[in-house]
Amino acid sequence: MSTPRPDFLAALAGRNDGPPPLWMMRQAGRTLASYRKLREGTDFLTFCKTPELAAEATLLPVRELGVDAAILFADILLPAEALGLELHFEEGVGPVTSPPVRSAADAAQLQRRDVAETCDYLAGVIRRVRAGLPEGVPLIGFAPSPWTLAAYLVEGRARKGFPALKTFTYADPAGFAAFLDLLTDTLCAYGQLQVEAGVQAFQIFDTWAELLPPPLFYELVLPRVQRLADAIDVPVIYFAKGTAAFFEQLCPLRVAALGCDWTIDIAEARQRCSGKALQGNLDPTVLYAPAEAIQRETWAMLDKMQGDRAYVVNLGHGLAPDIPESHVHAFVEAVRSWTPDHE
Ligand code: CP3
Repeated sequence: MSTPRPDFLAALAGRNDGPPPLWMMRQAGRTLASYRKLREGTDFLTFCKTPELAAEATLLPVRELGVDAAILFADILLPAEALGLELHFEEGVGPVTSPPVRSAADAAQLQRRDVAETCDYLAGVIRRVRAGLPEGVPLIGFAPSPWTLAAYLVEGRARKGFPALKTFTYADPAGFAAFLDLLTDTLCAYGQLQVEAGVQAFQIFDTWAELLPPPLFYELVLPRVQRLADAIDVPVIYFAKGTAAFFEQLCPLRVAALGCDWTIDIAEARQRCSGKALQGNLDPTVLYAPAEAIQRETWAMLDKMQGDRAYVVNLGHGLAPDIPESHVHAFVEAVRSWTPDHE
């Protein structure tokens, strides 16, 4: 008889009595040769919007790596189209939106399209993935936090230090807060569309949480993340990168789990936040090193979370595209071979 699969939803609910479940941020991306092959000849956004392709990309890591949860293949910038913005993909740069939203006057020009209609292809992807997933492997939906979406929409693309974003933030606090409220409305509908189509958990990515001083993060970001999480009727994971210094401030959020980046010791994160699940947090660059190092670092992390009923194994940020695929397998192998009494 095969051993039962580690239960991701049980860990999010704080009642996992088996080995910890595993998935990886960016598990469905260029690290996998099969993804690169599938993507050949198709523009990234067309790929995201073609249910057969996006569903297949979602399923590849489940099949090839044996992870315990799938994450919807999509991009955090897709909801920009519901605001009437142009979205295109520049190879080597990433998604680019236009025109940039740099002031309250720019924000006033935004449209409020029906989100479920504008992003209806996602429902098609989600239904296909659910039909193709093995029993016991849940599907995670996702969205950016309103702040991280704002970061891209104000700059138009990722830009070091996000100067235009910070200018808008400080130059017009009321106008910027209203812009964040509009983005929160859009993201609530975007999340609900995914839940209605069948996602079983939901991750909010706050990649650019690290840009704000803590008091502004508490004031501008946390209440809107809470409003988004409250609109989503499945367990929510909040991953806010760069928040280790004030991690305990995230703990009162009503979400199922907090994602940890690699700049916090996971054992310390547990001391600073009990009563919710924790996810993470291996330094993703460990995966550049050989298998022995991957096993050593992974086992050290798992030792710290031994017996924790609310722990999900993950990296501290996404898999980089140039990590050798065999090293990703070594990470999975290290997680699976770990036992509490290893030498
Ligand atoms: O495997 C998965 O995690 C599921 C799919 C997924 C993608 N993007 C696919 C993707 C997820 C969850 C995302 C989230 C995302 N997208 C984030 C938040 C996560 C994080 O890393 O902090 C951000 C910031 C984006 C925006 C984005 N998308 C950028 C900046 C880029 C270009 C950089 C890069 O990695 O290429 C993308 C493109 C992108 N999104 C790719 C994939 C697989 C690469 C597309 C390709 O060239 O095939």
